[in-house]
Amino acid sequence: MMGAVRRPTEKVRTGAVAMTRSEATARSNVNVALVKYWGKRDPELNLPATGSISITLDGLSIDARVAFAATDEDRFEIDEAPAAGEERTRLARFVDLLRQESGRREPVSVVTRSHVPRGVGLASSAAAFAALAVAGSQAAGLHLDPPALSALARRGSGSAARSIFGGFVEWHRGERADGADSIAEPLLDATAWSDVRVVVAVTTTAPKSVSSRDGMARAAASPLYPAWVAGAEADLAEARAAIRARDLEALGQLAEHSALKMHAIGLAARPPLLYWRGATVDCIHRVWALRADGVPAWITIDAGPQVKALCTANDAPRVAEALGAVPGVVRVITCAPGIGAEVVA
Ligand code: DP6
Repeated sequence: MMGAVRRPTEKVRTGAVAMTRSEATARSNVNVALVKYWGKRDPELNLPATGSISITLDGLSIDARVAFAATDEDRFEIDEAPAAGEERTRLARFVDLLRQESGRREPVSVVTRSHVPRGVGLASSAAAFAALAVAGSQAAGLHLDPPALSALARRGSGSAARSIFGGFVEWHRGERADGADSIAEPLLDATAWSDVRVVVAVTTTAPKSVSSRDGMARAAASPLYPAWVAGAEADLAEARAAIRARDLEALGQLAEHSALKMHAIGLAARPPLLYWRGATVDCIHRVWALRADGVPAWITIDAGPQVKALCTANDAPRVAEALGAVPGVVRVITCAPGIGAEVVA
């Protein structure tokens, strides 16, 4: 997975404190859940109420560079602008976690560069924190194996636990209160079932109105939430079996069911929560119409208004064309299964 690329360290001295400069850059792809993570059993540690299964997507990635002792104070930059608000708070918390785990005390500089539209329900926080876990642990001198990287990434954003790995990935709910067993593991790597595609229909590039974290908190009070949790093991077993058998129809049906069930929880909550726009609904109907016409494709939707359609590589151009023609769709992106997070410099 990760090449052990390590920048030479350089001793610098500021005032009376000796500091060791070290840095690393990592890249991670986003992932889209086929069995959704929607609810936490521990919000502080990002421990999920249920397991989830995802596919890592090629080409929608985030680069994160983490440097210890390169600056006089902590510095957080996202896409060439200083991080602000909630994003800054999350990055600062993650950097504190890196210092706590490594015993290092120096200021940390974090610079991320996105190759995916941020804040529009394309799980960019998953890619960001997976890249940060890989770069940050390397820069801090922590030698973490992939499961430990997954647990670290999870602390930044739950779904980031899955982006550590490529292809089809399961993130286990785990039982332990400390979260040590709530880690992801690969089910099938990207090359093992490579003719699957995810066609992403972007219906708006505006930032999402309700974060996943807040959405999950609201969902927990929905009368449909207990049924969601109760059904999770059966959904996971079905998805696992479909992936093992490379059965796209079985996987697509299950993925669509999981997504619609997740969004139904919000509709039944008080106050209600609905991430969809008109174009979202039109995309769902378009995919269903394609299916009626004999083109196998199934939808999934995350905490935003974008629609992702699961289909074969062969059918992807037709699905992309159909979704691109839906009024309100501003962009269509077709992704193959991608690799896990890795050090790039
Ligand atoms: C709908 O991982 O973004 O995309 O753990 O609070 O950072 P936090 O939430 P996040 O939630 C992702 C929710 C989802 C479903 C999924 O990816 O499984």
